[in-house]
This record gives sequence, structure tokens and C-alpha cells, in this order.
Amino acid sequence: MKKRVFSGIQPTGDIHIGNYLGAIKYWVSMQENYDNVFCVVDLHAITVPQDPKVLHAKIREVAGLLMAAGIDPQRSILFVQSHVKAHSELAWLLNCFIPMGWMQRMTQFKEKSVKQKEQVSVGLFDYPALMAADILLYDTQVVPVGEDQKQHVELARDAAGRFNSIYGDTFVLPEPLIPNVGARIMGLDEPTKKMSKSEPGTNHAINLLDTPDTIRAKFARATTDSLREIRFDEKRPGIFNLLTIYQTFSGIGKQELEAKFEGKGYGDFKKALAEVVIEGLRPLQERYKELTADPTRIDSILAEGANRARPLAERTLARVQQKIGLG
Ligand code: AMP
Ligand code: TRP
Repeated sequence: MKKRVFSGIQPTGDIHIGNYLGAIKYWVSMQENYDNVFCVVDLHAITVPQDPKVLHAKIREVAGLLMAAGIDPQRSILFVQSHVKAHSELAWLLNCFIPMGWMQRMTQFKEKSVKQKEQVSVGLFDYPALMAADILLYDTQVVPVGEDQKQHVELARDAAGRFNSIYGDTFVLPEPLIPNVGARIMGLDEPTKKMSKSEPGTNHAINLLDTPDTIRAKFARATTDSLREIRFDEKRPGIFNLLTIYQTFSGIGKQELEAKFEGKGYGDFKKALAEVVIEGLRPLQERYKELTADPTRIDSILAEGANRARPLAERTLARVQQKIGLG
């Protein structure tokens, strides 16, 4: 029996190379040895304000990009969260078992809510409960995510453990799986900050659908430092981040990479980096174009994915309802 993998991605902003290197690339490679469920989490997206038309289009774009990146909807289940109603329902049930104190410790909420003050939605606070529902509905064992999501996966595990200790064995306990390289890609403009979809700067992230010229221009403007050496030195976050991107796209080892650029200037290095990333993204961009040539294709793949996900989710939900004594 293959282990069950679940992961989710929000249909907001533009998917960037941080999402690709920190998450999507691993999801693709895990299809061989695991039984995968991948979800476009639109219900998570509305925890902050969204334009309806943009949201609707982004759901399809993200799904298309996942497939273009190599998620095979035959082998893996790929679906949209709101198409399977059990997600909202289990989130409510879990709400009644997750202590307020656990949620108050979530660092992502603390960071995100600073900006929004009292306007912050209850949904944003409750986000980890919905995420726990996503994971637990599919008896997930492994959750591949970037480092920033580790705390949320641990909360899902704790919630499952707590429920199991009250009602007996109900949920499988999930574990986060954090990739070693590229787990945290930083912003090009501000390399001490994680590359993020919600960052406004036009020079912040390389998006998966960026044209070659845009990629060249963004790398050319990337923040570095006034030193010269091109080395993996964590104290120099700009050049460290660019080297990490180069390494993950090319597969070249650290020492070999440092040797390759020994005595070269930042300008030459950035040009070479841009070409590696352009070539790395080219096959993905071509497949995306093919997929979206027929506008109904993605919708029918997603409908099929939801049809496969639904019975799995409903079976778990029924088990939980019965344990609690509902209905
Ligand atoms: P999000 O953009 O928050 O929907 O994240 C989707 C997935 O990409 C999650 O598994 C994140 O942990 C991962 N991710 C997001 N930003 C980065 C980043 N800068 N570096 C590495 N992984 C990331
Ligand atoms: N919160 C995750 C993120 O922003 C997305 C997500 C939602 C997720 N549900 C999930 C990831 C379940 C893994 C498992 O990146």
C-alpha cells in the first residue's frame, strides 16, 4: 500500500518559483511512490478579500499550472476544495475540538493580522482548522509543504490526536514533509523576506508564466551586496538566494556551482541564472499553452477530480459524525 499524500495551494496571486521549488516540484516527484491528492484551496483564498472574476479564473490557472508542472490527473486526484462540501463541514466539527490557545499560537495569523487590524476575518484566524480538515479527510500520512506551513500541519496532527483520544481511533496522524533545498525561496527585491504571492513589488518574484525578457529583467535588478565573491554564505542573503535558485533549477552541486562562477561578476552570474530559469520553465509554459487551448478541458478534469475525492472525504466525515453522535 502506498502512503497517502495531500497538499493544497491557494488560487491567489501569481504562482512563483518559490511555490514551484518549495512545493509543486516535490508533489510531482512524489506521484511515483505515493497515492496523491492535490487540492486548489479556494475556501482558504477567501479568508482575505478576493475579486470574484479573478478568483474564478485563478482557480483554473493554478490547476492548469499544476498539470503543466507535471501533476498527472490520471495518477493523482486534482480537485477544487469547494467542490467537495465535506471540507467545510469537517472544519466546523474540528473547530469544536481545537482549543483557542492552539490557534492563538499560529505565527502566520499573527503576521497576517498585523496588517489588517480589526478588519481581519474570523476565517483567517480559523484557517488552520480548514487546513486540518483538508488533510484529515483523506487519511493523509504525508503533507509536503514549504517550511511556513509546518506549524499548521502540526496543528492538524494535534487536533487528530486530541479527537482520537476522546473518541477512539478516528483519524490518521499526518506528518509534514519539508524539502531540504529550496524550502524557502526569498524575494528578489528583499532577500530577507520569503518570496510571496501577496507581496506587491513587480520585482519581487519570478512567476511561472513570466516571459524570458521579464525573467532577465527581474534577475538583473535582484538585490545583492557590495562584495564580489559568489558563494553560498547565509550571511549574504541576496547572493545565497540566487545561488539556491540556480542550484535547484540546474541540479548542480554547491561546490561545483561556486567553482563555475569563481572570479566572475554578479552581472554575468545573474545573466546565466536567468537563462537556467528560462530553460527550466520553458517546457512547463509550453504545456500550459496546450492545456488552455481548449477552455473546457481544465473544468472537466477538475469535475472528474472532485468526483474521485468526494467518496473518500464523505466516508471520513460519516465516521466522525457517527463518533460524535450527530444526526
Ligand atoms: P501559498 O503561496 O501560500 O499558497 O503556498 C503554496 C505552497 O508553496 C506551500 O506549500 C508553501 O509552503 C510553498 N511556498 C510558498 N512560498 C514559498 C517560498 N518562498 N519558498 C518555498 N516554498 C514556498
Ligand atoms: N495553507 C497552505 C498554504 O498556504 C495551503 C493549504 C491548504 C494546504 N490546505 C492544505 C497545504 C492542506 C497542505 C495541506 O500554502
